[in-house]
Amino acid sequence: MITVFGATGTTGAPLVDRLLEKGGKTRAVTSDPSKLEKLKAKGCEAVLANFTDPAALERACAGADRIYLVTPAHLDMRRWKANAIAAAKAAGVRHVVLATGLGASPKAGLTFGKWHSETQELLKESGLDWTFIQPTYFMQNLLWQADSIARDGVYYDDLGGPVAWIDARDIADVAAEALTCAGHVGKGYGLTGPEALTGEDIAAVLSEVTGRSITSAPLAPEDAKAAMVANRMQDEVAAAMVELASIAPKGYLGSIETTVSDVLGRPALRLREFVAENRDAFVQ
Ligand SMILES: NC(=O)c1ccc[n+]([C@@H]2O[C@H](COP(=O)([O-])OP(=O)(O)OC[C@H]3O[C@@H](n4cnc5c(N)ncnc54)[C@H](OP(=O)(O)O)[C@@H]3O)[C@@H](O)[C@H]2O)c1
Repeated sequence: MITVFGATGTTGAPLVDRLLEKGGKTRAVTSDPSKLEKLKAKGCEAVLANFTDPAALERACAGADRIYLVTPAHLDMRRWKANAIAAAKAAGVRHVVLATGLGASPKAGLTFGKWHSETQELLKESGLDWTFIQPTYFMQNLLWQADSIARDGVYYDDLGGPVAWIDARDIADVAAEALTCAGHVGKGYGLTGPEALTGEDIAAVLSEVTGRSITSAPLAPEDAKAAMVANRMQDEVAAAMVELASIAPKGYLGSIETTVSDVLGRPALRLREFVAENRDAFVQ
């Protein structure tokens, strides 16, 4: 049995689909009772557990030998993951595939890298088998501004430099491989897409796929942060996002890793494919 936390989320939902395709016994976890039926309809077990509830987390892990652990970017995410790791250990789980972020290490200088590193070290110390899934920016983040792209014909670029965006489905596929195949214990997988794209590159792909003229306009850090806070992101988390974006103009988010193709034996998905599949979201 594999328990998937964050099973309705950006990486967890495609992971559940992939695990079911592979035919394994899968248990999907949500904190929202209204999502249970939809999860069950996929053909998996579905259970309710909040990251703040140790007993529910332990029930979610009972009988599972592997888990996928992801939380939203949240000020409490280190505590939430610590609760889930403790529950996994108590329930007899053997292997935790932990979603963190590219650059997470004890040497990290940025807030997200430090936060994620703390959890990675905690998991190592737990004695459980571990695999770290460390992605760069998700292509799915572009959907956050799909409405304004459709309305204004403008992509607002808060990065200002090349970024090797990854499709969350590739993250899910690598996680599925780590959960179901041998050889992934003790590995940290830095994951990127196959190309480094600037705001202008993204606008060009959006224009080509939608058949409309979409331009890129810079978004100042304070405006990016205000938009995230208006979307109910916590102030400190939005500040950490802006801090991460600040290294893009120096090219630090543009390096390409080959891990997706190394692990999956197929190329990583390109932005053009992602935009084409989500074309309707970017047109009015
Ligand atoms: N977005 C990016 O570009 C990016 C890049 C690199 C790393 N990351 C990292 O990736 C992680 C986010 O991954 P993701 O996008 O797959 O996650 P997500 O979609 O943001 O969240 C996963 C799920 O967590 C569940 N959840 C929320 N609060 C909960 C609670 N209190 N208890 C239990 N479950 C709860 C929600 O599902 P329910 O409502 O069903 O409970 C949600 O669907 C973060 O750690 C972030 O730092 C993100």
